[in-house]
Amino acid sequence: MVLVLESLLLAFIFLACHAAHVAPQALLEASATSTPGVISDYLALMSFKSRIMSDPSRSLAMCQWHGVVCGLSRSRRGRVVVLDLGELSLLGTITPALGNLTYMRRLNLAQNHFHGDLPQELGNLHDLETLQLSYNSIQGQVPPSLSNCTRLVSVSLHGGKFPNLKQFLVADNQFRGTLPSSLCNATMLQWIQTASNFLSGTIPRCLGARQKNLSIVWLEANQFEATNNVDWEVLTSLTNSSKMKVLDVGTNRLQGVLPNSIANLSTQLEYLVMSYNNIAGIITEGIGNLVNLKELIMNHNILKGVIPASLSKLKNLNKLSLSNNALSGPIPVTFGNLTKLTILLLSTNAITGAIPSSLSNCPLEVLDLSHNNLSGPTPKELFSITTLSRLGFPVQRRHRWTAHRSVML
Ligand SMILES: *[C@@H]1O[C@H](CO)[C@@H](O)[C@H](O)[C@H]1NC(C)=O
Ligand SMILES: *[C@@H]1O[C@H](CO)[C@@H](O)[C@H](O)[C@H]1NC(C)=O
Ligand SMILES: *[C@@H]1O[C@H](CO)[C@@H](O)[C@H](O)[C@H]1NC(C)=O
Ligand SMILES: *[C@@H]1O[C@H](CO)[C@@H](O)[C@H](O)[C@H]1NC(C)=O
Ligand SMILES: *[C@@H]1O[C@H](CO)[C@@H](O)[C@H](O)[C@H]1NC(C)=O
Ligand SMILES: *[C@@H]1O[C@H](CO)[C@@H](O)[C@H](O)[C@H]1NC(C)=O
Ligand SMILES: *[C@@H]1O[C@H](CO)[C@@H](O)[C@H](O)[C@H]1NC(C)=O
Ligand SMILES: *[C@@H]1O[C@H](CO)[C@@H](O)[C@H](O)[C@H]1NC(C)=O
Repeated sequence: MVLVLESLLLAFIFLACHAAHVAPQALLEASATSTPGVISDYLALMSFKSRIMSDPSRSLAMCQWHGVVCGLSRSRRGRVVVLDLGELSLLGTITPALGNLTYMRRLNLAQNHFHGDLPQELGNLHDLETLQLSYNSIQGQVPPSLSNCTRLVSVSLHGGKFPNLKQFLVADNQFRGTLPSSLCNATMLQWIQTASNFLSGTIPRCLGARQKNLSIVWLEANQFEATNNVDWEVLTSLTNSSKMKVLDVGTNRLQGVLPNSIANLSTQLEYLVMSYNNIAGIITEGIGNLVNLKELIMNHNILKGVIPASLSKLKNLNKLSLSNNALSGPIPVTFGNLTKLTILLLSTNAITGAIPSSLSNCPLEVLDLSHNNLSGPTPKELFSITTLSRLGFPVQRRHRWTAHRSVML
């Protein structure tokens, strides 16, 4: 019975809308008492259609329109839950009214010719799980309001052009897929924050090459891969970003040999995090070029060779973590020059020699040298350090940089 009523109502709506003399107000009054949501969806779709300048296909009634799927049960009945309009050569802009389709779970506009901005009203789509916008000419900022689409699991923006994009913030979601290589065309990009998702594939090699203003790259806790040195070319590209302050690729699936080009990263770099990967090779002495480093975090890799003595040149170095690698040789005596070093973690390596008493010049709060092959006594100057052995390292530094971390995209 209810179904029949609704069908009739829908039929009425469509008749009404096609009859030019029926004012929208009359339409609303006629139906507002029963299903205002359906009317709202209809108006939103009409608005959407009105902006499409070229639509090769013709359409019938809302829930039967090409690509429109409506819900069948409960509150979703008659409401648009899917708008699947990929690959239709549609040309036009995207109406803010799409944000009124509040039951929408999937919006696919990929492979059309949409241009203009993404409306911030998309942030009203609280049920949205999939947003497919690849291969259009959409421009401008990705609206921060998308952070309110907390059910979003997939966003594809490949082939998009974002000439004005300054921030690409998608942290703390369940995004899958690869980083859009179109980010490489976003020359104004300053900040990439994708931490804590399930992003995979290689980090686009071109990233950084053209983004002279790129300063924060936070890719931590994803599934990014690098299996050989070619994949690591991104690191070389990133050396072109002369304003880089933060580079965090920790907790991913990066393998292969650490490129020496790491020494050519911006001297502005303050935080370099590569921990929890499978990065091999040696740490080049060139790392001493990164004179503004405050934190160098490279624990849990398979780095070998000696600890570069050039690290002693990093006057601002506050935290150094190289634990759980395969480093050998001595602790550089010159580490005593690190007058801002408060945390030094070198445990679980194959470090040899005596503990330099010069370390007592460092304002050390945490020193972990356990599980090495050190010899000789612990210098008595070091006994004042409260924590000498194992301590977990606080890995959530990024919160400091993302006070508004709930803002993503
Ligand atoms: C979308 O919803 C807003 C707020 O309810 C309303 O002002 C606007 O007219 C709606 N747009 C369309 C096209 O229905
Ligand atoms: C998310 O939604 C809330 C409540 O609707 C709103 O206050 C907030 O501004 C929205 N956030 C963004 C980034 O749009
Ligand atoms: C970057 O822009 C150029 C020119 O618009 C285009 O040919 C190229 O495919 C774009 N690259 C990516 C990765 O989107
Ligand atoms: C980089 O930043 C500077 C200063 O903030 C600005 O003037 C310049 O236009 C930016 N360059 C690009 C390519 O965004
Ligand atoms: C750095 O930028 C210059 C000029 O913008 C470009 O020619 C060069 O290829 C870039 N280098 C890398 C490693 O991307
Ligand atoms: C670092 O940059 C210098 C100057 O641009 C260059 O000569 C050198 O080869 C680079 N080193 C690495 C390891 O890429
Ligand atoms: C570092 O410390 C050593 C002694 O431990 C000292 O001889 C040397 O001059 C210092 N180097 C710098 C660059 O400060
Ligand atoms: C530890 O050092 C001792 C002597 O300094 C040496 O005999 C031994 O082989 C070393 N062990 C390892 C695992 O390096």
